[in-house]
Amino acid sequence: MTPKVTPLNPKLTDFVAKVEGVSLAETLASETVEALFNALDTFAVLVFPNQVLTDEQHIRFSRYFGDLELATGDYMKQDDRRLQMELNDISNLDRSGGKMDADDPKRLFSLGNMLWHSDSSFKAIPAQYSILSAKIIPTTDGDTEFADMRAAWNALDEKTQQKCLGQVARHSQLYSRGELGFTEFREDQQQAMIPVRQALVRRHPRTKNISLYLSAHAGMIEGWTVPESRIFLKRLTEHATQREFTYRHKWRVNDLVIWDNQATMHRAMGYDNKEVRDMRRTTIAGVTSSLEEMPA
Ligand code: OGA
Ligand code: MN
Repeated sequence: MTPKVTPLNPKLTDFVAKVEGVSLAETLASETVEALFNALDTFAVLVFPNQVLTDEQHIRFSRYFGDLELATGDYMKQDDRRLQMELNDISNLDRSGGKMDADDPKRLFSLGNMLWHSDSSFKAIPAQYSILSAKIIPTTDGDTEFADMRAAWNALDEKTQQKCLGQVARHSQLYSRGELGFTEFREDQQQAMIPVRQALVRRHPRTKNISLYLSAHAGMIEGWTVPESRIFLKRLTEHATQREFTYRHKWRVNDLVIWDNQATMHRAMGYDNKEVRDMRRTTIAGVTSSLEEMPA
């Protein structure tokens, strides 16, 4: 069966689509998987309403897109996991299923998701796709915003494009969490936070489209002073996240959303911790460094 793909975003017709007519709990034909890849190439964010999935089904579906990352990025949750290692726990629940206190360090650390970012850009080989499933959503708020980094690149003036081309940024959770005031990390956490090098501009391996590659984890541009790096990265992020390049997703229970981290950024909008929000994410590992995708 061919999935039905409908653009969802009135601002950019080739950014964000709804996909219907396919049950992700079932085994998919290779033509269906190909159709989903093609839709991702065009829209970069796909919303699948009404997909009731067990964790195993979510993981099995995700493997059609590549190998999975293990959820090692969230240092705070490692000793106390609620979900299996293939799932990032995007919830305010603890291991026993109870709600975390508002001042729980694990919750505070996860507020980093409210900064515009691309998943796993702090890994030397960053993620390709992320697949997020909504199990429990708050009665209000808790939306997620997405930004189209292809459109953002295309809209940059020539001079700024030239300034970006060939630049290498350093990404680490030290920078993103530092922005939230986290300054003290255990030795093992520091080891895991050694900055990695990423292209500031990348060419998508499938579509060959060019995107800005920004993330809250980016804290330095190589060869630049720290203040000049930070200002430039902030200016680019402001540019890339203007209303015209973004889409805000209002979640419904059992929505599943796939986004391409190679062409988008996203951020959580936040919600009242009196409510429960249970979302679970798989992440498709990358195969090459963004440094190998720098446009000539
Ligand atoms: C993520 C993420 C945003 C949200 O799952 O990677 O950043 O709204 N989530 O929870
Ligand atoms: Mn994220």
